[in-house]
Amino acid sequence: MNESVELHDVQGIIIKGYDKLKAATFLLLEITDSTKTKQWLASQLPMVTHADISTKTITTAVQLAFTYSGVAALNVPAEALKTFPPEFIEGMVTEHRSRMLGDLEDSAPDKWKWGGTEKDFYSIHLLLMLYATDDSTLQHFYTEQKNTLDAAGLKIAYQLETSKLPKEKEHFGFRDGIAQPVMRGINHTSDNEANLIKPGEFLFGYQNEYEKYMFSPTVAPENDPANILPADMNNPLLKDLGRNGSMLVFRQLEQNVKAFWAMAERAAKEQNTHDDPVTPEYIASKMLGRWPNGSPLTKCPMEPDASKETFDNFGYAKHDYDGLKCPIGAHIRRANPRDNFLRDSTGDQEKDIEKSMKFMKRFRIIRRGRSYGAPLVESMEPKDIIQAAEDHKERGLYFLCFNSNIGRQYELIQQTWINNPKFAGLYEDPDPMIGYPGIMGDGATTTFTEQAVPVRKQVRGITRFVNVKGGGYFFMPGLNALKYISSL
Ligand code: HEM
Repeated sequence: MNESVELHDVQGIIIKGYDKLKAATFLLLEITDSTKTKQWLASQLPMVTHADISTKTITTAVQLAFTYSGVAALNVPAEALKTFPPEFIEGMVTEHRSRMLGDLEDSAPDKWKWGGTEKDFYSIHLLLMLYATDDSTLQHFYTEQKNTLDAAGLKIAYQLETSKLPKEKEHFGFRDGIAQPVMRGINHTSDNEANLIKPGEFLFGYQNEYEKYMFSPTVAPENDPANILPADMNNPLLKDLGRNGSMLVFRQLEQNVKAFWAMAERAAKEQNTHDDPVTPEYIASKMLGRWPNGSPLTKCPMEPDASKETFDNFGYAKHDYDGLKCPIGAHIRRANPRDNFLRDSTGDQEKDIEKSMKFMKRFRIIRRGRSYGAPLVESMEPKDIIQAAEDHKERGLYFLCFNSNIGRQYELIQQTWINNPKFAGLYEDPDPMIGYPGIMGDGATTTFTEQAVPVRKQVRGITRFVNVKGGGYFFMPGLNALKYISSL
C-alpha cells in the first residue's frame, strides 16, 4: 500500500533540504516559563514551515524540535512521556551510549560544548532552527525571532551558527548532500527503486519497511479533551502525538582537516611508484567512495566525471562486488551498502541483490546537516587544502539526520558500520574518515584496506579526524501535534 504523506502537517526540513536557504542558525533554548512558552508556541504555529510549500517561493523557514526534558517541561502528560522512544527518553549521553557511539577520549561528553552535561540534559528544551536565503535575511529574521523569546519565557542556552561552504562541499573538500532516500507517497519520482522508502521509516503514523507502524508517542484520550490528535495506528483507542513527526539526531562533529589530508599525503607517498602514481586526492577519494566533485568511484574509478546523472543511481553488487573500484570500507559504502548488504552469497546474485535492497531500506536516514566554521581555503580544492597552513580554527559539520527509530537506523549505522573495525570481513578498519580508532584499544590507530589486484593495499596509522563536540536527540512533531502541545 502506498500511503500519501500529509505534507501540510510535516515540518518542511524533513522532506526538503532547503538548499536554496543557504544561511541557517540553530538556537538551543531553555524554557523558563512554560505558560508563556505555550502561548508563544500557539502564536508561532502559522509560522512553522510545513512541507506542502514550494521552497522556490520562500525566503525564510522556521522549524521546531524538543528534547525529552522539553516535552516534559511543557506538561505533556506523564502517561504520554513514557511512550516516547527509549533513546529519546535516555538522551544521547549515557555511559552505554557513549561507548556504543564512540563518544570517548577527545569526543567524551564532558568535553562537549553543549549537550554533554546533566545540567544541559535538563535545561536544553527546545531547538529553534532558522533558515534564510542569505546572511542578511537571516540576521533580520533572527533579530525578529530573538525579540519574541524573552516574552515567550525562553532563554538562549546556546546559539549554533552554520556556514554554507563553496561548491556544496563539506570541510574535507568533498561534495556533500548527494545520496538521500526518497519517501514513497510524496509527489517525488526516483529512477532508483532502491532509494524509494516507505514513509514510516522517517515519520510516525505511516507503514515502515516491515509493513508495520513504528510505536509512536501516544496520549490517553482523556488527556486530549479538545480531540486535537488523530487515533493511533497501532492502538486506535489512543491518540497519536507522533503522527507526521520524526526523531532528529543532532551531533556537532569537529573536523581536523589538516590532519586528514596529512594522512592522505603520507599514504600517497608510501604507495607512489613510477609506474603507478598515487595522489593524496586519490587516497582520500578511495576512503570516501566519491571524488571531491561527488562522482562515485564505483562508476568512475579512474578519474572524476562531471555528469551528475550518474551521481546516485548505482549499486555495488554487479560491477564492484570485490571493492576494486569503491573499497568495501569506504565511508559511503559502509554507511549505505546498497545492493551489496548481504555478503554471504547464496549463489544466486539476483536474489542476493533483491534481498539486500529490501533489507537496506530499513537502515536509511535523511541527512540534513550543515557545516560550521570558515573553510580552510575558499577554493575547497584538495591541492589548496594541502598547501594551506594550519589555522587552528574550529570547523566541522552539524550532522543532523531524521529517522523514526534511532536505535535501528542512526545508532546502528554509527555503531555497527561506521565504528566497526570488522565491517564486512575487514580486520582493523573502522570508517577511515570519520571512525573512532580507539575502538581497537586505548590510543590505537587503524588501517584502511583498499582491495586491489594482485594484492590489496593498506594505509596504516590512521588517527581520529572527526571528534564529537555536542549533541542531543530531539523530537520534531507534526504541526497538529505542536498545536496539541501548545494547548496543554
Ligand atoms: C564530519 C562527519 C562527516 C563527513 C565529513 C561526511 C561526509 C560525507 C560525504 C562527503 C558523503 C558523500 C556525499 C553524499 O552522498 O551526500 C557522505 C555520505 C553519507 N554519509 Fe557521511 N559524513 C560525515 C558523518 C556521517 C555520519 C555520522 C553518518 C551516519 C552515522 C553519515 C552517513 C552518511 C550516509 C548514509 C551517506 C550516504 C551514503 C550513500 O547513500 O551513498 N555520515 N558523507
